[in-house]
Amino acid sequence: MISRLRTRRLRRNAPTSESTPSKWAVELSGCARTYPGVPPVEALRPANLSVAHGDYIAVVGPSGSGKSTLLNLLGLLDRPTAGTYQLAGHNTADLSERERTAIRGHRIGFVFQSFHLLPHRTALENVALAQLYVTPRRAARSAAASAALQQVSLTHRQHALPTVLSGGERQRVAIARALVNTPDLLLCDEPTGNLDSTNAASVMDLLEELNATGVTVIVITHDPAVAARAHRSVTILDGHLTEVTAP
Ligand SMILES: Nc1ncnc2c1ncn2[C@@H]1O[C@H](COP(=O)(O)OP(=O)(O)OP(=O)(O)O)[C@@H](O)[C@H]1O
Ligand SMILES: [Mg+2]
Repeated sequence: MISRLRTRRLRRNAPTSESTPSKWAVELSGCARTYPGVPPVEALRPANLSVAHGDYIAVVGPSGSGKSTLLNLLGLLDRPTAGTYQLAGHNTADLSERERTAIRGHRIGFVFQSFHLLPHRTALENVALAQLYVTPRRAARSAAASAALQQVSLTHRQHALPTVLSGGERQRVAIARALVNTPDLLLCDEPTGNLDSTNAASVMDLLEELNATGVTVIVITHDPAVAARAHRSVTILDGHLTEVTAP
């Protein structure tokens, strides 16, 4: 399964005669986000960060330091108030709302601490919904969702509602939903925050496995054990982003 995804991803990223892909999956230059107010909140101060394709980085920092603000910018859920954000070599400021939505749907996967699953839909339906923008064919959506659930070892629970799943299983459904469209970039905001250490370890194994197929992974975490498994760590303190380990 993983090797099938790798082939698809590499093919999609293959250079064409019209474009040469950037070395960087993500490149921030002086990128900042200030929320308006009295006084304004400088949630992310001008930050530089280059993340290579296939890298795996952890973002660590205390509550309120700007981690989710950074992730929202990276995931095109928000726009910087200063500086530039290049995603796979494209200046995101040049993208229309429609293009941003398409990139979010096709190229970026999100995993959140609180899973964000629809409670009245089965695991399979939750994952299949992420394919709505990809194909109008219900059977194709179900097949892709089923394959993604197999990848996270949840085939036996695919018809269960999230309410009867364990926390670890819910997060694996959320990861299946994030990977069903074979994203290039996976953004995780405290993915193990609601899990015990055993389930957290299996989620970490899964993220590592995905990273090994070529997906660029950025994980926000409070947990030093989670950060230790990434290739690189950056910290955020009061909106200041600092590299901890050299790229
Ligand atoms: N929409 C907003 N408007 C104004 N201020 C905001 C907004 N969103 C976040 N903030 C503020 O920006 C700062 C950074 O918030 P952010 O959510 O990025 O922190 P965080 O590091 O993710 O915290 P946590 O670990 O608690 O999730 C905080 O001071 C927060 O109160
Ligand atoms: Mg946060």
